Amino acid sequence: MKPLKVALLGCGTVGSAVLRLLEEQSDDLAARVGRRIEVAGIAVRRPDHHPGVPAALLTTDAEALVRRDDVDLVVEVIGGIEPARTLLMAAIESGKSVVSANKALLAEDGVALHAAAAKAGVDLYYEAAVAGAIPLLRPLRESLAGDQIRRVVGIVNGTTNYILSRMVETGAGFGEALAEATDLGYAEADPTADVDGFDAAAKAAILASLAFHTPVTAADVYREGISAVTATDVARAAEIGCTVKLLAICERVSDEEGDSVAVRVHPAMIPTSHPLAAVGGAFNAVFVEAEAAGELMFYGQGAGGEPTASAVLGDLVAVARNRLVGAAGQGPSGYADLPIRPMAETPTQY
Ligand code: HSE
Repeated sequence: MKPLKVALLGCGTVGSAVLRLLEEQSDDLAARVGRRIEVAGIAVRRPDHHPGVPAALLTTDAEALVRRDDVDLVVEVIGGIEPARTLLMAAIESGKSVVSANKALLAEDGVALHAAAAKAGVDLYYEAAVAGAIPLLRPLRESLAGDQIRRVVGIVNGTTNYILSRMVETGAGFGEALAEATDLGYAEADPTADVDGFDAAAKAAILASLAFHTPVTAADVYREGISAVTATDVARAAEIGCTVKLLAICERVSDEEGDSVAVRVHPAMIPTSHPLAAVGGAFNAVFVEAEAAGELMFYGQGAGGEPTASAVLGDLVAVARNRLVGAAGQGPSGYADLPIRPMAETPTQY
């Protein structure tokens, strides 16, 4: 059988891990999928910055690459809104299935991308966009599709979890813990997206969209970061048996006005007996409460080249298997379109 040809957009930390795993696991993947998976080309901004990659695969013309007739599938790991949106739309319109790790794009334009993929009859998978290696989006969308999810509560940003964990462990203030996280490479030089909650808000929007079958964008998410959390807040929380975490909370609210969805990201006190309280360091975890399934917890590495590449490859295998049976496995969601409830006041409680 003809190999499945993959166009890779981006070759940074995640892209190069995807490439390496594709190479190392080539035979196993071929056995699992029923055909070989080969890289047709890799779009990068600066080809001379990738000495370990065969030069013949590198191109700066990403749009031409995604439209190439010999490309079956596009993997996007460049992040950000543009040019990723234009490239993924071009790929979908050319009949290519897409695997993306792009939380910002999915949180802003997930509906349009899903609609385009459904129209073209192709797959759109993005497990790596939320919580790195943790299998979470497909369980929400598929395994729990027959259930009614009440609440999804997650620690979905490793940088802020590391900072808050250090504040709890050492009594340090926010600035000191952030400096340590920066020194150790957990926090980026510009930590705004993490510490101000933008990264978690994008992930919360994706989680809520899948959990409640309702389009939620990052702009719908109430957002408050951790820079105002003090050592005193953390100490007071400990005195009442709580710890402080940056939580992404997605809730179905049922009242006399009917059902709606509320999505928020903010620091909150949680009892130390709660399973999320034990999630330390830069780890992620997501706690799901569903009517029939009860309580579920997903835990693992939420960032990093290899953990994120694991999720990308899982999607790639799923798409490859779908193509083999001639079906797009992740069609449109059939949105319930619940109204989104704005937060009336600043929440502090879990
Ligand atoms: N900056 C993110 C984090 C990386 O700290 O969790 C993964 O999206």
